[in-house]
Amino acid sequence: MTDAPNFDLIFFGGTGDLTLRKLLPALYAAHKAGILHPDGRIFTLGRRNLEQAGYLALLNTHVKPGLGDDFDAPAWAAFLARIRFQRLDANNADDYQRLVDALGGLSDRVTVCYLATAPDLFTTICTHLAAAGLNHANVRVVLEKPLGRDLASSTAINAAVGRHFAENQIYRIDHYLGKESVQNLMAIRFGNALFEPLWRREWIDNVQITIAEQLGVEGRGEFYDRMGALRDVLQNHLLQLLCIVAMEPPVSLAEDAIRDEKLKVLKALKPFSTQDVTERTVRGQYRAGAIDGQPVAGYLEEPNVAPDSKTETFVALQAEIANWRWAGVPFFLRTGKRMQERVAEIVVNFRNVPHAVFPMPLDVHSANRLVIRLQPKESIQLYFLAKEPGDTMSLQSTYLNLDFHTMFKARWADAYERLLLDVIHGRLALFMRRDEQVQAWTWVEPIIEAWERHTIAPRSYTAGSWGPAASSSLLSRAGVVWHEET
Ligand code: BG6
Repeated sequence: MTDAPNFDLIFFGGTGDLTLRKLLPALYAAHKAGILHPDGRIFTLGRRNLEQAGYLALLNTHVKPGLGDDFDAPAWAAFLARIRFQRLDANNADDYQRLVDALGGLSDRVTVCYLATAPDLFTTICTHLAAAGLNHANVRVVLEKPLGRDLASSTAINAAVGRHFAENQIYRIDHYLGKESVQNLMAIRFGNALFEPLWRREWIDNVQITIAEQLGVEGRGEFYDRMGALRDVLQNHLLQLLCIVAMEPPVSLAEDAIRDEKLKVLKALKPFSTQDVTERTVRGQYRAGAIDGQPVAGYLEEPNVAPDSKTETFVALQAEIANWRWAGVPFFLRTGKRMQERVAEIVVNFRNVPHAVFPMPLDVHSANRLVIRLQPKESIQLYFLAKEPGDTMSLQSTYLNLDFHTMFKARWADAYERLLLDVIHGRLALFMRRDEQVQAWTWVEPIIEAWERHTIAPRSYTAGSWGPAASSSLLSRAGVVWHEET
């Protein structure tokens, strides 16, 4: 038995990719672990002409195979018993009334409306929810990213949602904040005194944050072609990671204490001039190549992508945080699809010694480095120089390795599982506040504008590489190389 609150969880976009690939598997894991209230119900809504039996069949073909070793027949059967599918046209008021009826009327149970749909539907759905009475104090609305395409559209959505829901009912999700290793980054920074004195411009030379994927656009061509890497990943996931690396220690773990500190970082990001955009950003788009030896198509050949698309599938940029702690330290952010490896990591490069008394090895730059690996294998490595055994004073780069999966045997919750439970429990700390999001869009806006104004076409890169050569040049101008190049 669990002390978790009872809940009704309602997924808009119930037949969509996110619900089937991430949300339901995450809930199944929580269900199997016995941490959901036994009476908690799940309502999935979609436009597809399916009945309950058809929807469950869809789950058996699309969700079950992905559960791998986690699959357990009795647990799966009990999980399916929680789920009710209902057809809903987001524009049809009667369908919302039918939803209220299916819920058994309005009640004071925790009711979570998860909008796993395109952002253009957020306003319509929230307006109809409110008209049906589904915006009372126990209703929480979860908004998937990206919230709009730019500052204006996200402001419009936030304003519309804000007309019907109070800020503390709105959960703007960024699943990167739910990752175990991101939580650990906070633990390491604020739970140990070791790093804090070094965590500043006097000792840190540069910071690199990478989210590289081997996947392409995976059947999401239509969505992705309207977004691109800057809007899809940099504006949210990468900026949130940057905030956690760069923020001041919060006074507590209270939601606003953390969010206030993150906001300060976003506000301190130096705005890009048009010249900065030209000099400090790199856009790329993959052409055909190979991933792990298997040929893959180029972006322009992907289904539902315009054949002359100028959408970027890769972006790298150099940011600076204009405050006392960070002034002058370059933060290099990078994300791309169809890259050589799947890796998400934060690399903090400390300064080298001011004067070398030993002969320095050629790879001296790979020492004095902290690597926080978020995926695929969560770990922290601290690189430094040590003496090679022998009678000469010859140094070599080596590292201490903390592999979290070896160290901790407990069950690891997936990011979506943790965040869904946070919503059910009413914990807002890992969700973006409206002002944070406005600030993040405000900062990327000049980049979007300059790219569009100058029609800066993305540079082509081969699928399976680390992106366009210009990405390496961006760093070499600052006398630095990307982590994997050392
Ligand atoms: C999503 C993006 O937010 O994050 C996807 O829309 C991307 O394009 C995904 O593939 C990456 O998440 P993760 O957790 O697999 O690194």
